[in-house]
Amino acid sequence: MTSPAPTSATDARRRAVCPGSYDPVTLGHVDVIRRAAALHDEVVVAVLHNPAKQGVFTPDERRELIEDAVGDLAGVRVEVFAGQLLVDVCKAVGADVVVKGLRSGTDFAYELPMALMNRHLTGLETVFLPGEPSFGHVSSSLVKEVVRYGGDVTGLVTDRVRDALVARLQADQGN
Ligand code: PNS
Repeated sequence: MTSPAPTSATDARRRAVCPGSYDPVTLGHVDVIRRAAALHDEVVVAVLHNPAKQGVFTPDERRELIEDAVGDLAGVRVEVFAGQLLVDVCKAVGADVVVKGLRSGTDFAYELPMALMNRHLTGLETVFLPGEPSFGHVSSSLVKEVVRYGGDVTGLVTDRVRDALVARLQADQGN
């Protein structure tokens, strides 16, 4: 049996959200966004900013760094949200699926309750993509720590992110 044809081109569009703190975006994130974009018509990279948490970069700086990193990807846009549930963000942008990368079983243990809660709240589904193994050790918090103590994160983040981290974190050391 064939399914009914969509009544317009927009009916068939699949829009996914790739949410995160992105403080800052890493090449592991970029890999997941790129793969999500290959699987969906549109991807909204949602910078979810918790106003109670001070980051290294402001939400707008994070957005700009992501835009620079994924600028070559068609159908991908970046938006900032503050103090909102992910399910409400997805409703607002018209997305019916969340895409997340998993580096390890530890990531799965952290992500599973959130995925189940989101499904409980509105039926929002989460799709997990296995992280690219060469980025298995890469996280926003570790790259910040490495840079803070003078290490080199080239190849783990974009050059622009690396330079922004050095400017922000190594300048702080002098204070
Ligand atoms: O990059 P992170 O810090 O792992 O991202 C976590 C994030 C921002 C995706 C998660 O904390 C989130 O979805 N926050 C929005 C608030 C919300 O919906 N909380 C309930 C989730 S079940």
